[in-house]
Amino acid sequence: MNNFTVTNDIYQVTAWIRDGPRRGVRVVSLSERSVRKVFLFLARFLREYFQGGEGLVKKPAVVIVGAGKVGGALTILLHKKGYPIAGVASRSISSARRVAEEVNCPATGRPEEVTGLGELVFITTPDREIARVAEAIASRQGFRSGQIVAHTSGAHAASELRGVQGTGAMVVSIHPLQSFVDLQGAIENLPGSYFALEGDETAMAVARQIVADLDGKAFTIRAEDKPLYHAAACVASNYLVSLMHYATGLYRCFGLSREEAFEALFPLVQGTINNVRRIGPVQALTGPVSRGDGTTILDHLPALERVGKEEINLYRALGLYTVSVALEKGSIDQEQALQLKKVFA
Ligand SMILES: NC(=O)c1ccc[n+]([C@@H]2O[C@H](COP(=O)([O-])OP(=O)(O)OC[C@H]3O[C@@H](n4cnc5c(N)ncnc54)[C@H](OP(=O)(O)O)[C@@H]3O)[C@@H](O)[C@H]2O)c1
Repeated sequence: MNNFTVTNDIYQVTAWIRDGPRRGVRVVSLSERSVRKVFLFLARFLREYFQGGEGLVKKPAVVIVGAGKVGGALTILLHKKGYPIAGVASRSISSARRVAEEVNCPATGRPEEVTGLGELVFITTPDREIARVAEAIASRQGFRSGQIVAHTSGAHAASELRGVQGTGAMVVSIHPLQSFVDLQGAIENLPGSYFALEGDETAMAVARQIVADLDGKAFTIRAEDKPLYHAAACVASNYLVSLMHYATGLYRCFGLSREEAFEALFPLVQGTINNVRRIGPVQALTGPVSRGDGTTILDHLPALERVGKEEINLYRALGLYTVSVALEKGSIDQEQALQLKKVFA
């Protein structure tokens, strides 16, 4: 006589529908809520099957090497999206464990111990370590044919993973165009971000699926364009932070704390960002350069000179650039531009 296990466990039931009835499992007495879940599952299955969707296709097993902000966020978010996480490696075992514990997977300080377990290996170390780490793993036979090895650097091309060459694995760079200051911030900011992709064709298809699963937006970039692409990202993100540091520092000269200065300046920054978003970075320009008010700028210069050399040099350099923006806007003419350039030079 057959030995049946009787279940009303929704997960066993959906696995039973997906994988085919397993011998020995019989379903009994599902609650109304469970029946609804089964029907929803079936509806999703049929929709994805007929639309060629990939939601139910087996996700590749992922290994993370470099348990920092990006590596940690990818581990947690991909796990949430149904990617099996086969292992986390990092330079220090404590970093690897901290991330691995979140998804209950093996942690190690020796990447080659876990890289073979994954179909997709992310090397999320600092940029300067990517090539060395990939070479070290390859030299210890940590990669295998058919695997995909990815890094998340914005400046480097997939070819930075040169150690992977000759192992039969494919390479791809998957750069999230986002700023991550800590693990929690990375988890929150990653969805909705754009991702620049570049690398081997087959690996690119998998990368696109990953970006879609992370609720991101993918675009492709040529390897030779990556340094300029990344420089622009640094200007828009890192130098915006430096500008806020610069401006709040100037307010400190007349007694405000940096926090007070930030509170006062933030609505201005927010309003400016809103304008840039609404009408673009040319039409959004306001202020003395946009109006051709050279005399106002002449008042600024001695005040900034008293603050310091870096402050006045930066003000002059940004002012010169802003003259070109005002010209493009059409709010000053060539003659006014020439006068302003003389003031800033
Ligand atoms: N942060 C961002 O805003 C951002 C945005 C887009 C892309 N990226 C890119 O993402 C990558 C990672 O950046 P991140 O900000 O996440 O860096 P991170 O927070 O500094 O993390 C890097 C991790 O790599 C580990 N590591 C360093 N050397 C290693 C080695 N030799 N072997 C194994 N692990 C090593 C470190 O390990 P231990 O903790 O174990 O010492 C650290 O946890 C970089 O390529 C970066 O360009 C970053």
